[in-house]
Amino acid sequence: MSVLGLICTQCAAQYPLGPMFYGCPACQDTGVTSALTVAYDYEAIAADFDVETWAKPGHGIWRFAEVLPVKDPDQQISLGEGNTALVRPRVVCETIGFQNLYIKNETTNPSWAFKDRFHAASLSMARSMGFTKVTSSTTGNHGVSTAAYAAAAGIDTCVILCHSESSELQRNMIRMYGGHPFVLENRFQYLEMLINEHGFYPSTTMEPMPNGTPYGIEGYKTIAFEIYIQLDRQVPDHMFCPIAAGDSLFGPWKGYTELKKLHLSDRHPVMHGVQPAGCNPYVQSFQQGRQDVIVHPDPQSIALSIRDDTGGKPALQAIYDSGGDAIDVSEDEIIEAVRLLARSGYLVETSSAASVAGAIKAAREGRLSKDQTIVCLVTGSGAKWPEVIASLVDKPAPIEPTWEEIKAQVGLV
Ligand SMILES: Cc1ncc(COP(=O)(O)O)c(C=O)c1O
Ligand SMILES: [Zn+2]
Repeated sequence: MSVLGLICTQCAAQYPLGPMFYGCPACQDTGVTSALTVAYDYEAIAADFDVETWAKPGHGIWRFAEVLPVKDPDQQISLGEGNTALVRPRVVCETIGFQNLYIKNETTNPSWAFKDRFHAASLSMARSMGFTKVTSSTTGNHGVSTAAYAAAAGIDTCVILCHSESSELQRNMIRMYGGHPFVLENRFQYLEMLINEHGFYPSTTMEPMPNGTPYGIEGYKTIAFEIYIQLDRQVPDHMFCPIAAGDSLFGPWKGYTELKKLHLSDRHPVMHGVQPAGCNPYVQSFQQGRQDVIVHPDPQSIALSIRDDTGGKPALQAIYDSGGDAIDVSEDEIIEAVRLLARSGYLVETSSAASVAGAIKAAREGRLSKDQTIVCLVTGSGAKWPEVIASLVDKPAPIEPTWEEIKAQVGLV
């Protein structure tokens, strides 16, 4: 069997696949919180595997089924996630002078965010373990995706605990999918009650980090597999990810390490985690050389999806292991990247543009050479944040809709 089970990211203790949401019990006994992750017998997989099967269009993330935890095709839930484009954003590249900068455009996923990969893997596991109720805690995107995949999986009850600044549109999307969104202050307390008193499956990251389902990462790692195929069986030199809990970086990183274990690549990218300057717990922790991520006392940023006050250790460890760093960007730098991406034809949310803002900042500071192959993970669409987009639009003064006025406004003579 190619899946060995769960393994602790700290002490390497192993456990069978199952409903383990609180990290490694052995570490917990010593007072340490550490994440579990799915382990495979890579040598056995590599011995009987043709990477060309990955290059064929398939059933969402399940075209990578050799290294995913659910083997029964009837339990492999998909809404056609993944298969996203790796594209060069024209205006970003021309303005800054990047020769080989790509965005991995996750905005085209079924619920318009990379979260769909997480839930395809996570809710397939939930269903195969017999769960009929699912919950998650969210700044918006995560919960929308939970509800979409709960619908796909035929889950009876889906309760989403929403941040008060999640958009009205996101909460309506959750309702349309059949979920129940609630805006609550102490979301983690409610999560605990749903899990422990009512048997809900938490398709989410919980506190203290990096607690949570180990299965969503398995979906995120397919980002690395796709990039490898799209770059003609190469990995990029650098990858920039907008991070909050850090799964957005740890997931692809796990994918790159598995490419090595499968003897498909002998190198890995340098991983850069990008955060807003007003909410930069990874940056502070990285600068201090810490092993854990500090708690930021007063997180502030327009980029709500990456405004978490702390994060998980696996992403920080991935940054160290890859020779990378954690970078912070100002609000103006984030907005500049949103605008450059929009003028390139990509309407992305502020948090997603942070990855591009990080690459621009590193290049401007001379820490990133512009001819290297750089991939920025662009995690979600701007369309789910209509109020934010409205606040960024330069609206011209109202005019009388006469032909002369219209011509004057667009500069026609
Ligand atoms: C659009 C977007 N980008 C990035 C992130 C950060 O992901 P993670 O918490 O896995 O680091 C999120 C999380 O909600 C998100 O919605
Ligand atoms: Zn452990």
